[in-house]
Amino acid sequence: MDKLTNKDHAEEQEFLRKIKALRDADKLGELMEMTESDLMEEPETEAPEDCDNYVVFENVRKVYHVGEVDIVALADASFCVNKGELAVVVGESGAGKTTLLNILGGMDTLTSGRVILDGREISSMNQRELTKYRRYDIGFVFQFYNLVQNLTALENVSLATQICKDPLDPAETLKAVGLEDRMNNFPGQLSGGEQQRVAIARALAKNPKLLLCDEPTGALDYNTGKAILQLLQDQARNSGTTVIIITHNKAITPMADRVISVRSGRVQDVKVNHDPVPVSEIEW
Ligand SMILES: Nc1ncnc2c1ncn2[C@@H]1O[C@H](COP(=O)(O)OP(=O)(O)OP(=O)(O)O)[C@@H](O)[C@H]1O
Ligand SMILES: [Mg+2]
Repeated sequence: MDKLTNKDHAEEQEFLRKIKALRDADKLGELMEMTESDLMEEPETEAPEDCDNYVVFENVRKVYHVGEVDIVALADASFCVNKGELAVVVGESGAGKTTLLNILGGMDTLTSGRVILDGREISSMNQRELTKYRRYDIGFVFQFYNLVQNLTALENVSLATQICKDPLDPAETLKAVGLEDRMNNFPGQLSGGEQQRVAIARALAKNPKLLLCDEPTGALDYNTGKAILQLLQDQARNSGTTVIIITHNKAITPMADRVISVRSGRVQDVKVNHDPVPVSEIEW
């Protein structure tokens, strides 16, 4: 709303400036011939050309109060991500990455600023709206998978799809992540990489607008981690899912369409890769 008001104000100022300039130059005749649209030319857009504002973080501040102490987890974080992009959020431990992802996923609230997904302002939602948002719009992948141990892979995925509006088929989704033959195994019978695939299938089967992954390869060995990152990159490429991955590993940033560097609660830098590298070509 503020933006609209500012824009109106800017247009009004521009209009007055043009009239004054013309009057000063005693060109009233020219003024009469000018159409309204000439006078109301669109001001230059402020949004960077490379962003469609599908995901918007605008001056987000998050302060945790621990006893007498205030901890500023996010100081003034702003960035945007395009629909269908794979974005990597990179930064050292304590930089505010998880805080940022939790706010975007509706699992935490902010102190001030705005967060928008697909035109809807998350930061102004009440608890009920946030519950729906988490349920329908967000798929979350955690570092330690967070699977239900006494349910099979298929049951874990099916459980998540039962609370969604337009889910994908659980068996098909497990097949798509390469687990066709392990559907009836319990998490304890699967390797770490396989468990993370189940967790990704569980998040994807919800058919979410946004797939959020917090250090998804943090508990995996090198090759398994690579395979998981490849799966996430393929998902963004082939299915148009918007994927945001948190990592502290700078080496994987070439795989992303957009790299958001976070430091001390601020977005230090946003870099757009026009030609992202396949994960198989990245070494670290
Ligand atoms: N619930 C909380 N209560 C108090 N302080 C918190 C809370 N969550 C995070 N913090 C603090 O906010 C800061 C940012 O934490 P955050 O977890 O977002 O960092 P991070 O970048 O994800 O780090 P890591 O790479 O270690 O996971 C840290 O100083 C952390 O101690
Ligand atoms: Mg973290």
